Amino acid sequence: MDESKIIYEDDAHKVVMFSFDDETHEDAFLSVNQYLVVHQGIGVLVDPGSEAIFDELYEAVSEYVEIQNIKYIFFSHQDPDVSGSIAQWAISTKAKFIMSSLWVRFMSHYGFTQMDRVMTLLDHGAQLKFGDGTLKFIPAHFLHSPGNLSMYDSNSKVLFSGDIGAAILNAPEDYKKVTNFEQHKEHLLGFHKRYMGSNKLCRAWVEKIQRIDVKIIAPQHGYVFEDADVGLFLAWLSELKCGSDLLEELY
Ligand SMILES: [Fe+2]
Ligand SMILES: [Fe+2]
Repeated sequence: MDESKIIYEDDAHKVVMFSFDDETHEDAFLSVNQYLVVHQGIGVLVDPGSEAIFDELYEAVSEYVEIQNIKYIFFSHQDPDVSGSIAQWAISTKAKFIMSSLWVRFMSHYGFTQMDRVMTLLDHGAQLKFGDGTLKFIPAHFLHSPGNLSMYDSNSKVLFSGDIGAAILNAPEDYKKVTNFEQHKEHLLGFHKRYMGSNKLCRAWVEKIQRIDVKIIAPQHGYVFEDADVGLFLAWLSELKCGSDLLEELY
């Protein structure tokens, strides 16, 4: 694992980014980011990933929060690189699991059966009080999963966007932050064209996001977008042709 990186911090609140890279550069491992929000000692873990990274992530997370103080674990969608370790986190924490209603039963195939610990999100999302702020779960369906939500933390103004904004890159950096959006676009394009549902869906999500004050977009692969790059990314995404827009290339 790379060094973890604090991407937001004030007296009461912190957001930490963890990254696992394709260290062998043999394209056998998909690089991933995981995030931890801590408010006055209480944690929320975001897209913790697969069983393959569980032990190392557990160690890294425990540097920032008592594992027993992780209150919620959020899964943007059902993919193995997002939620494959749900059974391990269920054993090692007392956390509640937050995910789309579409995927709850699928979790049994990752060895998870404690359905009474799941807080189910319906399609329109939800808002949850957390410390003196809120966590907002925003619809992001078909971007790329049919039941997909983003999480916005009002204290840090970080939007955890799952696979939206993801770039498949083998470039371990101290801080995985976009510095040149024009150059970064080429790393976004291939992934978004094929994995995202359609331009109409991209626009629906962008319109929702533009109504909130976002300082950082933190995706599950690649680099985070900060400040001006947030707007540049949203503008790019709202113009993107992807998924069913490119039907003739697929069939
Ligand atoms: Fe995914
Ligand atoms: Fe992913």
